[in-house]
Amino acid sequence: MRADELRRTFVRFFEERGHTVVPSAGLIPTHPTAPLFTNSGMMQFVPYFLGEEAAPYARATSVQKCVRLSGKHNDISELGRTRRHLTFFEMLGNFSFGDYFKEQAIPLAWELSTEVVGFDGDRLWVTVHDDDDEAEAIWHESVGVPMERIQRLGAENFWEMGETGPCGPSSEIHLDCGPEWGEPGGPAHGGGDRYVEFWNLVFPQYYRHPDRSLSDLPRKGIDTGAGLERWQMLLDGTRSVFETDVLAALVDEAQAVTGRRLGTDEQTDVALRILADHARTMTFLVNDGVVPSNEDRGYVLRRVIRRAVRYAHRLGVERATTPALVTKVIDVMGDAYPELRRNGDFVGMVVEREEDRFRRTLASGSALLDEAIGELDGGTLPGEVAFKLHDTFGFPLEVTSEVAAERGVEVDVEGFEAAMAEQRRRGRAGRTPGSEAEGDDAYRELLDQFGTTDFLGYAEGETDGRVLAALPRPDGTLEVFLDRTPFYAESGGQVGDTGAITTPTGRLEVLDATYALPGLHRHVARVVDGEVVTGQEAHAAIDAHRRDYVKRNHTGTHLLHWALREVLGDHVHQQGSLVAPDHLRFDFSHYGQ
Ligand code: SER
Repeated sequence: MRADELRRTFVRFFEERGHTVVPSAGLIPTHPTAPLFTNSGMMQFVPYFLGEEAAPYARATSVQKCVRLSGKHNDISELGRTRRHLTFFEMLGNFSFGDYFKEQAIPLAWELSTEVVGFDGDRLWVTVHDDDDEAEAIWHESVGVPMERIQRLGAENFWEMGETGPCGPSSEIHLDCGPEWGEPGGPAHGGGDRYVEFWNLVFPQYYRHPDRSLSDLPRKGIDTGAGLERWQMLLDGTRSVFETDVLAALVDEAQAVTGRRLGTDEQTDVALRILADHARTMTFLVNDGVVPSNEDRGYVLRRVIRRAVRYAHRLGVERATTPALVTKVIDVMGDAYPELRRNGDFVGMVVEREEDRFRRTLASGSALLDEAIGELDGGTLPGEVAFKLHDTFGFPLEVTSEVAAERGVEVDVEGFEAAMAEQRRRGRAGRTPGSEAEGDDAYRELLDQFGTTDFLGYAEGETDGRVLAALPRPDGTLEVFLDRTPFYAESGGQVGDTGAITTPTGRLEVLDATYALPGLHRHVARVVDGEVVTGQEAHAAIDAHRRDYVKRNHTGTHLLHWALREVLGDHVHQQGSLVAPDHLRFDFSHYGQ
């Protein structure tokens, strides 16, 4: 099945069932709790899962571009060696924001899998979380999956977006690919690549805090994710994702560029597959506004490009490799992602420059590395050598480690990291803002007792409500919690509202509004007059004049974003912003002066 056919079939199925079709978000997530890259379909919907923003639709479906190259979700070490891992892939998904839950999500997934796209129901196995009796009952009783093909798993069936953020138990559907792939026993006990998971149904209901604790989300939702290329592989019965239409075309291009053929030996096959995968990852990252650098996202991109160049070099290629690969990606994916065609020249230029830069030192760095390894006579390559290769020759650690491993040598990664950390510390001294500690029990109790704050501030500037708590802070101000509020809490770069809270016995000036926990509005306030007591009626009023200024600056960020794209190109994406009453700040990457 072709990729475009499967995208259409999936999305249409859910559209016909009341889901809004939402375009893929960019690979640079905007939510403050998000990891470096968009790693799944749910990430653009985080504000809805957290109740920070009202969802404009109760159910949605999308085809999301995803990158899994850092943090919790990183598939680089398996890449090219298994049948199913990729660092860039497309994720099909359906989502509910407080609308339906497991009882509908599970039968819908089964119907699409077996009746629409044609998976053989008798070869499907499902797993549910250890504690999820409910999901098991739905699979067995409503869908009719025999108990022998339902298994329970622990951590593997609990999905988390990253170190923090929405999470919850999940249930996965797997296809039994038959005895040639491994031992029987189902996904929980079977062997090898026999039972391939193709659809993850997540039931987000918790929020993971930086201290690892969990609290309830304002509303339960549904977040499902299905890897497009994996579905194609399983539906067509091919041996790996690299035989599906888009990736096969890229493997072909990698063969053309390197002059090497698949099937020659395992090392060549792995290298060709890595080139095919990395071609998409680099193209889409640059397209979405990442440029090579020595930090964060830019460094991840740099590693991808350099790693591809190194693999090509190892296959004996002395000339530029990445431009042809990027052109091919645009060629085969440009219909599904038309922005690739618009940005194509820019993407090609960025990638080519990075390759040039690395090629200039590739030979001398390789010589230094060879010499250092030669002197070792087995053993461990010192961290300082790996760091020098990184610092002077631009060899990412993975590249050094891969070369060393081929020669039976390990790299002292700790030593490398220590040298790197020291350099970063010097470079960054005094620049990193402190992160706020979270996880206070008092906030949890408030949420447990009263639920989330009713936010009325999109429509009203003033509301009447009740004081749920007024907690003193060390600096003499108070943290006030209300059952309902017109105060916008700081999020997505927009500052919180200021204003006043008045009760029968006192008056407070609200200095700021933030989230103490997802869905729980905290008003930081100063007593102006009298006192304010828990349980009192309260009149809350924002400074509407100030809010108007904030709104205008919010509009300003959209205008600026549009103008930057007109002038500099479509690669300009918002990577962060601050929207205040008196100014705005807009972060983006651009590859020139
Ligand atoms: N977020 C889940 C995943 O990525 C389901 O979409 O697997």
